[in-house]
Amino acid sequence: MTIPFFESALTRLPRLGFGTWPMQGAACQAAVESALGLGYRHIDTAEMYGNEAAVGAAINASGLRRDEVYLTTKVWWDKPQGDAFRRGFDACLDRLAQPYVDLLLVHWPSPQLDLPSVLAAQARILAEGRARAVGVANFPLGLLRAAVEAKIAPIACLQVEHHVYLSQQRLLDYTRAQGIVLTSYTPVAKGQVLDDPVIRGIAEKHGATPAQVALAWLLAMPGVAAIPKAASPARQRENLAATELVLDADDLAALAALPKGRRLVNPGFAPDWAA
Ligand SMILES: NC(=O)c1ccc[n+]([C@@H]2O[C@H](COP(=O)([O-])OP(=O)(O)OC[C@H]3O[C@@H](n4cnc5c(N)ncnc54)[C@H](OP(=O)(O)O)[C@@H]3O)[C@@H](O)[C@H]2O)c1
Repeated sequence: MTIPFFESALTRLPRLGFGTWPMQGAACQAAVESALGLGYRHIDTAEMYGNEAAVGAAINASGLRRDEVYLTTKVWWDKPQGDAFRRGFDACLDRLAQPYVDLLLVHWPSPQLDLPSVLAAQARILAEGRARAVGVANFPLGLLRAAVEAKIAPIACLQVEHHVYLSQQRLLDYTRAQGIVLTSYTPVAKGQVLDDPVIRGIAEKHGATPAQVALAWLLAMPGVAAIPKAASPARQRENLAATELVLDADDLAALAALPKGRRLVNPGFAPDWAA
């Protein structure tokens, strides 16, 4: 099984990765070790997940070279100013027990976000080689555009919720034009795709599963990566095999016709998504 790569001037990452929230401790370490054993080479964690030590330990126990694994972490939104952001990242690297991460994201935009100073902190971390690329998560289009146009740090990635029930076409038009990868989180809609009659019908036609159909739909889009979370090796293997499922034009049309306004991750501190 070959996982396709996204490649830009700023970063190169497997388009199917592995989400780790909300796994913790030994269970998280076991799940990441299993995922790496099955062939995942892109792992998503964050300060807020409380599992960076477990993720780092799994990478260190895997026997893989550090440069064989693409590792993303994120600094939480309660550090909206450059110095705090930098200190937050120092602690991430300590917990991960890694010399660097491949991608460092701002996890959410705080209402108090001092964007230039946080971007300057990211640029400095890049220059130090402690992150190989930087980007943002949960930024609406206007704020993403501001981050790119500031030209303080080169934005390699936007991570946002994106699945068969939530279109991100407006963001995708921009990220594609800019060569930014759009990483889709909650890609199997937290399991909500499993009982969908349209998705089940497509899955049956291909001898596949609903989760595989949901992931193949994302992977059919240029410039998109997906990071499903699955605790068990069986589901991890199933999701990995979505890279081999090719949807036809009828499938894509049926999936495109599903309602696209269902947002599942919308905490009180979320930005105005239309901004
Ligand atoms: N940047 C952000 O703000 C942000 C926000 C949310 C998530 N994320 C990242 O994105 C990752 C994925 O998002 P998510 O965990 O919210 O949602 P998700 O990956 O869409 O869904 C995870 C849920 O779906 C189940 N599942 C996965 N594969 C399945 C399969 N093949 N068959 C049946 N059920 C399956 C999992 O089951 P099990 O219980 O068996 O594992 C889990 O309950 C997170 O782990 C995290 O790394 C980032």
